[in-house]
Amino acid sequence: MLVSEMHQFIKPYIKAGISTKELDALCEKFILDHEAVPTCKGYEGFPAALCTSLNDVVVHGIPHEEDVLKDGDIITIDVVIGYKGYQGDAAWTYTVGEVDEDKQYLMEHTEKALYVGVEQVKPGNRIGDISSAIQKYAEEHHLGVVRELCGHGIGAEMHEEPEVPNFGIPNTGAVLKPGMVICIEPILTFGKRDVYQLDDGWTVKTWDHSPAAHYEHTVLVTEDGYEILTPRLDD
Ligand code: MF3
Ligand code: CO
Repeated sequence: MLVSEMHQFIKPYIKAGISTKELDALCEKFILDHEAVPTCKGYEGFPAALCTSLNDVVVHGIPHEEDVLKDGDIITIDVVIGYKGYQGDAAWTYTVGEVDEDKQYLMEHTEKALYVGVEQVKPGNRIGDISSAIQKYAEEHHLGVVRELCGHGIGAEMHEEPEVPNFGIPNTGAVLKPGMVICIEPILTFGKRDVYQLDDGWTVKTWDHSPAAHYEHTVLVTEDGYEILTPRLDD
């Protein structure tokens, strides 16, 4: 789907020297050229097509001309695209040049936490099965689970019922049924899980300024399991 293609499109541009504003402009053009809608732009006043979250920014980073990537950074690109009346949503954390071992560890295990959550998707399982699997994996790997942010249902709107938290109790919450579409998105920190919001009303940072990573897929519940609607095209 277009969300996957946009991630594939922007990946080669994620290099030292480019600003988050330039990344946003490239992606917005890509989306519009495909006759699709950059859903984030204008959503509750968010000013851009992408959320660009650098290092200790956890989510909802606003693209800025002054935010220029440098070697050793990690950046999460989170995008929602509307196409033919439906929304797709995926986030990936990318490296800029060589990054230190702590950031590599954080990225590797946040991505694995996403797939541990996705593996729980099948009819009859419940949201709490996804949530608890992510929490267990993250905590076993000594990563912080940000509690203020969670996954969500998705369809004609980007945020629909149910909420999909990254912590919880097995066998609780809404029951998964074929045809449901949900976004699963572990948001993990290398240090403590506490976060705060900047007074721009959007940017969320880790309290201790440790790096954060965020991986998100849009996932369909099928008759016998799941289908990832936003597959990575570079795997
Ligand atoms: N992709 C984000 C999510 O999973 C939404 C972006 S927030 C916006 O909820 F306001 F910027 F659109
Ligand atoms: Co989402």
